[in-house]
Amino acid sequence: MASAPGRANLIGEHIDYAGGVVLPFAISDRTHVGVTRRSDRKLHVSSTHSKLAITLELDELENWKGTPWARYPLGVVHVLRTLGADFPGLDIEIDGSVPHGAGVSSSAALECATALALNELFSLGHSSLDLAKICRRAENEYVGMPCGLMDQAASMLSQENHILAFDCLTFETQQLPFNLSEDNLEILLIDSQVKHQLVDGGYASRFAACESARSTLGLDSLRHLTREAFESADLEPLVRKRVSHVIAEMERVSKTMVALKEKNFREVGELLNQSHASLRDIYEVSCKELDLACEVALTSGAFGGRMMGGGFGGSAIILTPIDNTQTVIANVSKAFADAGFKKPRAFIVSPSAGARIEYSA
Ligand code: GLA
Repeated sequence: MASAPGRANLIGEHIDYAGGVVLPFAISDRTHVGVTRRSDRKLHVSSTHSKLAITLELDELENWKGTPWARYPLGVVHVLRTLGADFPGLDIEIDGSVPHGAGVSSSAALECATALALNELFSLGHSSLDLAKICRRAENEYVGMPCGLMDQAASMLSQENHILAFDCLTFETQQLPFNLSEDNLEILLIDSQVKHQLVDGGYASRFAACESARSTLGLDSLRHLTREAFESADLEPLVRKRVSHVIAEMERVSKTMVALKEKNFREVGELLNQSHASLRDIYEVSCKELDLACEVALTSGAFGGRMMGGGFGGSAIILTPIDNTQTVIANVSKAFADAGFKKPRAFIVSPSAGARIEYSA
């Protein structure tokens, strides 16, 4: 049995698939996946969250089109098989506390826990980074969501009390110490209760805009696009607009890394605010609930905040002095009620441990 966490992302949004550096961290909510061998060639997947268990033949796996939630663990089984793993039938049991649709990547948690459990049980010998890449492939190729590597890297590689600076171009990692209580800070996630569905077109079209710019400009990665080269590049207006977010967000990540080192948390907050404005107005992946949460958090004493993850719903991440946390929560809840929005859910998170083996027999 392995477990893997959901993730939050301090900053570096919608730049992982453009080769940027991102600053995510694992949250304490985890998904547990137990895998056992079967004596036949069936795959049996069950989850405490769903009454419907899934059973299929191993040979049906490649073209199987069933239940969305089961596609995440089955995608991992599929990719590992294409890499040479010779699995017998398997029982895969899932239990977890990572909220779904809240933008904290319950899908990566499920993929990573499955991958780690299979890696251990069958002594496959993949490194944590390789497992993260395998999970991304499962999501890209089997689930059909063209995500980057941030969520899987965060779930696999995070350490307690650290932010993971993950370079999506070189795959280098740096663990940045981030002990919130030492600095009287709290990070609040405000779940807008707007359920995002990332397999929908909004995410894919942003990904496609970046890809089109990259290939038009003849680059390996948008990471290599300097601001000067961008200013003079000939890009179609909407593509140009999207890429301007990518360039500015990469710059904000560098500035955030400096501000974190200097413990200049007001500056970090300001960079979060700028990131939100860019995701709202330039990348156009926010929604009115997330905009309101960030706006009210700021006027309630938070250092800053922004929408987090793929967007179109999910959660906002707010950095606040600990003394203002309850005011932020109360004011955001009231503002949501006044606006006629669903009641938001607030939870306090801190950087937690990445995926691990829980039990092995
Ligand atoms: C989703 C994707 C990630 C990343 C974020 C946006 O969470 O799975 O790969 O692109 O959106 O930063």
